[in-house]
This record gives sequence, C-alpha cells and structure tokens, in this order.
Amino acid sequence: MAASEHQPVLLAQVVEALAPPASGTAVDATVGLGGHARALLAARPGLRLLGLDVDNAALARARERLAEFGERVTLVQASYWRLAEVARTHGVAAADCVLFDLGVSSLQLDTPERGFSFRHDAPLDMRFAADGPTAGDLVATLSEGDLVHLLREFGEEPRARRVARAIVRARTEKPISTTGELRRLVHRAIGSARGRIDPATRTFQALRIATNRELEGISPAVEQAARLLRPGGRLAVIAFHSLEDRLVKRALRRLSGRCVCPPGSFACSCAPEPLLEVLTPRPLTPDEAEVAANPRARSARLRVARRAG
Ligand SMILES: C[S@@+](CC[C@H](N)C(=O)[O-])C[C@H]1O[C@@H](n2cnc3c(N)ncnc32)[C@H](O)[C@@H]1O
Repeated sequence: MAASEHQPVLLAQVVEALAPPASGTAVDATVGLGGHARALLAARPGLRLLGLDVDNAALARARERLAEFGERVTLVQASYWRLAEVARTHGVAAADCVLFDLGVSSLQLDTPERGFSFRHDAPLDMRFAADGPTAGDLVATLSEGDLVHLLREFGEEPRARRVARAIVRARTEKPISTTGELRRLVHRAIGSARGRIDPATRTFQALRIATNRELEGISPAVEQAARLLRPGGRLAVIAFHSLEDRLVKRALRRLSGRCVCPPGSFACSCAPEPLLEVLTPRPLTPDEAEVAANPRARSARLRVARRAG
C-alpha cells in the first residue's frame, strides 16, 4: 500500500465516539497523516484541532492534507508525553475531545529506509522521531539478558532466549545492521515462516517498542488527556496490540475511580480518581469488511471514555 493510501482505522466509530461539538477544540495526540483529524474537521465546520506527532515526516504530510482547514489546525512536533504542556502553550485550556491512535503509520511502515518493516532490507532504525538510539544500537549494545527481557516483555516472544543468544553470537562476528540480516538471523534461530505471521514479527515489534519507549508514555498521557477534557468531553484510544491495550484499559479503570492494584495488595497505592466514565466495557473492533479492506486494522481496539461532570 502506498503511504498516501493510509487508511485511518475505525474512522466512523472514532468520529461518533468523540462526538465533537459544532465548535470547540479537538486534540489529536497522534495526528500521523491526518486521516482521523480530517474526518473530525470535516464533520464539524466550527471545530479547531491541535495535532501532535513526534515524526516530522508524518507532520509534513498532515500539514498538506489538512491545509484546506487553514487556521482551524495547529500541528506541533511533540510527544504526547507532553500533552498538557503543549496544550497550554497553544492556548487550549480545555478540550472537547482527545484521540490517541497508537503505534505506527503506513507512511512509516512503507518507507523502507525507516527500517520498521522486514519486508524491505534497510538499516535497523525504527525511530518515530529523529533522535535517540536506533533499533540497531539496541541490537548492538544490549546484554543477552536485557535482550531476553526486551523480547519477552515487548514482543511476547516465547523463544526469547534463543533469539537473544543468536543475536549476541552473530554480532561478535559482524554488526547486525539491516532489517534483512536480523530477520534471517531470527529465522535461523527459531525457524522460518510457516503460517501467516512471520516468526520475526515479535522481534521487530519488541525492538520498535523499546526504541521508541512506546509503553512508558501511555498511562501518563491518558491521564493528561483526561485532565484536559472539559466535563462531558470524550477520550478515544486505539491500541494495536495487547500490551498497549492492557495499559489503556488499566489507565481508564484507574481514572474512573477503580483500584488497579494487584489482587491481594495490602493497601491501595494506585490512587484511583473518578475523572472519567468508561463508555466501552469491551473495546470496539473493526468489522470484517474493514479488515478485508485494510488488513492492518485487524488488531485495532478502540476504548472510549467521557469526562465526568
Ligand atoms: C497509527 S499512526 C496515526 C494515524 C492517524 N490517526 C491518521 O489517521 O493518519 C500513529 C502515529 O503516532 C505517532 N506517535 C508515536 N509515538 C508518539 C508519541 N509519543 N507522541 C506523539 N505521536 C506519536 C507516530 O509517529 C504515528 O504517526
């Protein structure tokens, strides 16, 4: 799929869930190529939108695609980790709706030199933003134990030890510098593709999550979004794998006043706060037609909450 064809997932459901008012402010914390932003702006001619993304290439594309909305749109290169501060700087005291569409965009996946996809042989980069260590740096420097941990935690790779050992052995002979080299190494360590899912998928997911520290920021950002909403305002979060979705579910639970401490805890230490009302006891998922048209939508899960009055 060409990057220009990036298809926003669960588009109609997101617009309906966010229920933007005729005029007001929406925040798109992961504006990407502007697909959801565009639909929100088109649905409500009086709506303004503040869009954040860490990726300058995505923002350049969003800027083009949202140009027709002129001054209604403000785009900022920033992480959603800084949502509250960015909103304040841009004069947004309260938002009517906030959207997170987590993860990676088609533009990133389909730009070979970004190194997100093992379908192209490219440098092992995988960074959303242009700074910080690359996936190749992690592969070159982490100890075997840290690689095992990373592959288990972020890739849920059951054969993490084998993959980690193979990485450490291979890199003593020659640096692992491309996606193709890493994929072949994983195949040699745990077997090559049998079913629909390539065995290197878990390793690549783990490295991408670690490179961008993707899981760390989710709970604090969801909390900042909840605080930014005006009473009655809506929050929607789309997650693409169970690790993300678990964090989103937990954050929404805590922010709707429910304890999320591990069962059997001596005393509650999670400080639940009744800021939100969760509107989706179960996440919304794409229907068969959407998955058929856009296979990347298949694992999407949308959770929605409303700011308490
Ligand atoms: C699935 S895409 C969003 C697509 C968008 N909803 C659309 O319709 O075009 C996810 C985006 O989140 C961005 N992203 C990842 N981590 C981020 C972070 N910490 N802060 C802000 N944006 C982030 C990525 O660069 C990517 O562009």
